[in-house]
Amino acid sequence: MSVFLYLTFFFTLSASHARHLHQNPLHNASQIRLACQSTRFPQPCETALTHSSSLPPNPTSLQIIQSAISVSSQNLKTGQSMVKSILDSSKGNLNRTNAAAICLEILSNSDHRINSTVDGLTRGKIKDARAWMSAALCYQNDCWGALKYANDTQLVNETMAFLDSLMHHTSNALSMMAAYDNYGDDVNSWSPPKTERDGFYEKGSGGTALISGGGVPAGLKPDVTVCKDESGECYKTVQEAVNAAPDNAEATRRFVILIKEGVYEETVRVPLRKRNVVFLGEGMGKTVITGSLNVGQPGMTTYNSATVGEFPPTLSNGVVGDGFMASGLTFANTAGPDAHQAVAFRSDSDLSVMENCEFIGNQDTLYAHSLRQFYKKCRIQGNVDFIFGNSAAVFQECDILVVPRQLNPGKGETNAITAHGRTDPAQSTGLIFQNCLLNGTDEYMKYYFSNPKVHNNFLGRPWKEYSRTVYVNCVMGPLISPEGWMPWSGDYALKTLFYGEFGNSGAGANVSGRVAWSSQIAAEYVYTYSLENFIQGDEWIPTSS
Ligand SMILES: *[C@@H]1O[C@H](CO)[C@@H](O)[C@H](O)[C@H]1NC(C)=O
Ligand SMILES: *[C@@H]1O[C@H](CO)[C@@H](O)[C@H](O)[C@H]1NC(C)=O
Ligand SMILES: *[C@@H]1O[C@H](CO)[C@@H](O)[C@H](O)[C@H]1NC(C)=O
Ligand SMILES: *[C@@H]1O[C@H](CO)[C@@H](O)[C@H](O)[C@H]1NC(C)=O
Ligand SMILES: *[C@@H]1O[C@H](CO)[C@@H](O)[C@H](O)[C@H]1NC(C)=O
Ligand SMILES: *[C@@H]1O[C@H](CO)[C@@H](O)[C@H](O)[C@H]1NC(C)=O
Ligand SMILES: *[C@@H]1O[C@H](CO)[C@@H](O)[C@H](O)[C@H]1NC(C)=O
Repeated sequence: MSVFLYLTFFFTLSASHARHLHQNPLHNASQIRLACQSTRFPQPCETALTHSSSLPPNPTSLQIIQSAISVSSQNLKTGQSMVKSILDSSKGNLNRTNAAAICLEILSNSDHRINSTVDGLTRGKIKDARAWMSAALCYQNDCWGALKYANDTQLVNETMAFLDSLMHHTSNALSMMAAYDNYGDDVNSWSPPKTERDGFYEKGSGGTALISGGGVPAGLKPDVTVCKDESGECYKTVQEAVNAAPDNAEATRRFVILIKEGVYEETVRVPLRKRNVVFLGEGMGKTVITGSLNVGQPGMTTYNSATVGEFPPTLSNGVVGDGFMASGLTFANTAGPDAHQAVAFRSDSDLSVMENCEFIGNQDTLYAHSLRQFYKKCRIQGNVDFIFGNSAAVFQECDILVVPRQLNPGKGETNAITAHGRTDPAQSTGLIFQNCLLNGTDEYMKYYFSNPKVHNNFLGRPWKEYSRTVYVNCVMGPLISPEGWMPWSGDYALKTLFYGEFGNSGAGANVSGRVAWSSQIAAEYVYTYSLENFIQGDEWIPTSS
């Protein structure tokens, strides 16, 4: 334990002050105190910043933020080396090896996103910086969550405690960034992160278009083709085509993969270093990528059971893999009825666009894990928590369809459509549904109408404390229960979550019976959730041609 404590302090000290823990007298303590008062963990914030070597005497607010980020980044390195030690000492223990390997991979991605955050702030891109730091925190929390299932040694226990303190530092930097964005660069005006539950709606750039004309551009020329046809000049698996994409291509270069009609039974990974990869199918139900990994298999977690995911299963080179797009295909996870979590599609791709895509599964179909994602005219099917994750994802004109449970479908069930996993009020994440249809498949609706009382469907439930989900101008079928939303466990998160509705219609949209902890959004605030304001869509979603 002492070794790790030493490392923690070491990394928050300047080289010249490493021998004694004392305050750098040049720092303006009142500035630091004010800035730290806008965080959730002011004590570790002040301690770390007053001993920071990267802070000049009279720091600007931006310099204080950069310094808070650097505290997070340095502690992350300690966390990585602790997890590496767990991995090295876990030979022969499949659960712990797997947890540590996933953890290392996710922390490397956290490192990458923190680096991007620094870069974004330098370029004045505060919204991008907030999105990346939100993801960096999400990955640290995932690592903690992976270790929780393998917490059977002292070292794992200590590492989890260390990750807790790391997350506090990361949260603090993120809170300051939110304050800077919302209140400007005078630290006197900063305050701790507030949410819509406090009546606080972020002001946007004024974007008022709720429905976008943009999406996957028309007329893209394929770079390569995948097909089932024996004679053709084409790749036989989607993965081979992905592997053929250039590594670290320049930001404007797309790599377009035409996937011809057929069922591709494989688990596809689009690694971080392959950016702007585009999957073009020949239509939903025609081009189908189907895998069957699920968490029932030894050493498998929800995280890497996805049929298609933007994470490699092993350590990546930690380079960007953003800008993924797909159009005209089906992603399915065909795990059998005994399977539990079985993800059909997991996305960690920032600035990704999915159009005319279908996602088929049961529990946990679509893992919109992190960063900014746009789903347009998609069809998403499942039952338990089937759209989940901690991304900032906007779904427009999508069909969200409940399917029967695989075992005893007539017996009845309780489903939540979403389980958003925001852990911190400063994370700029949430699941936003606009002009979507909430219904069941024909088969499900037969069961439903035969005995509506036993079939309960809710708009969402709080996977994590600051879960945020919003439905705007959607059509909600009768299958949505009058209460609207369901708890996760007791009163967990009910005071902190934000579940908002505006302008919905249909038998399930009657809000008179809604739970007390849900919200109706006033018309003046609804544009907080526009593509422009929520995910900066005007800057990156291609306008269709
Ligand atoms: C320290 O910051 C406070 C608050 O912004 C300011 O009033 C004060 O003048 C600063 N002190 C010095 C020595 O610059
Ligand atoms: C690994 O995890 C599984 C599922 O949680 C559990 O049943 C099994 O006992 C664990 N194995 C070890 C060696 O801890
Ligand atoms: C982040 O930046 C640091 C310092 O420049 C560097 O050592 C590290 O490799 C970078 N990490 C990633 C994942 O790019
Ligand atoms: C890890 O396990 C130890 C020993 O059983 C326990 O004291 C500790 O609370 C656990 N940590 C977490 C975060 O669950
Ligand atoms: C787990 O770690 C916590 C925090 O470091 C410590 O208080 C506790 O005693 C540890 N528990 C075990 C069983 O090691
Ligand atoms: C919902 O599904 C049912 C059963 O398939 C169908 O009859 C109904 O028209 C659908 N509702 C809407 C609004 O599309
Ligand atoms: C909404 O539900 C309430 C209570 O169940 C009912 O009295 C009211 O008529 C419903 N409103 C509409 C528009 O259906």
